[in-house]
Amino acid sequence: MPIIIAPSILSADFAMLGAEVDAVLSAGADWVHIDVMDGHFVPNITIGPVVVKALRPRTKAFFDVHLMIAPCDPYLEAFAEAGADLISVHVEAGPHLHRSLQVIRGLGKQAGVVLNPATPAESIEYVLDLVDLVLVMSVNPGFGGQAFLPAVVEKVARVKKLIGARPIRIEVDGGISPKTAGAVVAAGADTLVAGSAVFAGGATKYASNIAAIRAAAKGAGA
Ligand code: DX5
Ligand code: ZN
Repeated sequence: MPIIIAPSILSADFAMLGAEVDAVLSAGADWVHIDVMDGHFVPNITIGPVVVKALRPRTKAFFDVHLMIAPCDPYLEAFAEAGADLISVHVEAGPHLHRSLQVIRGLGKQAGVVLNPATPAESIEYVLDLVDLVLVMSVNPGFGGQAFLPAVVEKVARVKKLIGARPIRIEVDGGISPKTAGAVVAAGADTLVAGSAVFAGGATKYASNIAAIRAAAKGAGA
C-alpha cells in the first residue's frame, strides 16, 4: 500500500485551525489526523464534532478521526455526520468493540481499531474483518510531543502477521519523525501520523518536514 502521511492537527495553531489544515494539505499531507480527547479516557480535552464540521467544507481531503473517548458509542453518529471519513476507536473505549465497529461501518464510514501501548496485538484478532485500519499507538494517548516507544516496532510486525492478506492499513501514531518512521515502515506500517514533526518550525517548514518523513519511509523500502 502507498505510504500515507497524516499530520495530527493537535500540534497545529488552534487559533487558526482552518488555515493550518489548508497549509499542511498544500505542503503534501495525504490525510488530516484529528485527535478527539474527552478528559476521561485520556487526561486532555481537545476537539468535538462541531470542529470537524467546521473544517469539512474547506477540503475534500480524507479526515482520519482518532477518538480517545469512552464511551465512544454515543458520539459515533455525530462524528460521521460532521464529515469524518474514517473513525477509529480504542479497544478499551466501550463494552462491545465489535458492535462499535459495526456501527461505524453502518454509518457508511471506514472503521479503525486502536491499540494502546499496553494492549496486546492479539486483542483485535476477532474484529479484523470489520476494520479498514489498525492504529498502533507508539505513545500513551493524550498529548503530542512524547517520545516514541520502541517496543511498538515488534507489535507492528505482529499486527501485520495477524492481518495477513486483508486490505487493512497499519497506522502508527506518536513520536513519528524522520528518525523513527523507517523502523515502523520496515515492520509493516503504511500510514504515519505525525504532529510535532510536521508542525515544527511554522508553515514555511511543513513541506520539508513532510518530505523528510516520506523520505525516511521510502528509505525503509516503502
Ligand atoms: C496522541 C495523539 C497523537 C499525537 C501525535 O494522543 O493521538 O496523534 O498528536 O503527536 P506527536 O507526533 O507529536 O507524537
Ligand atoms: Zn492520534
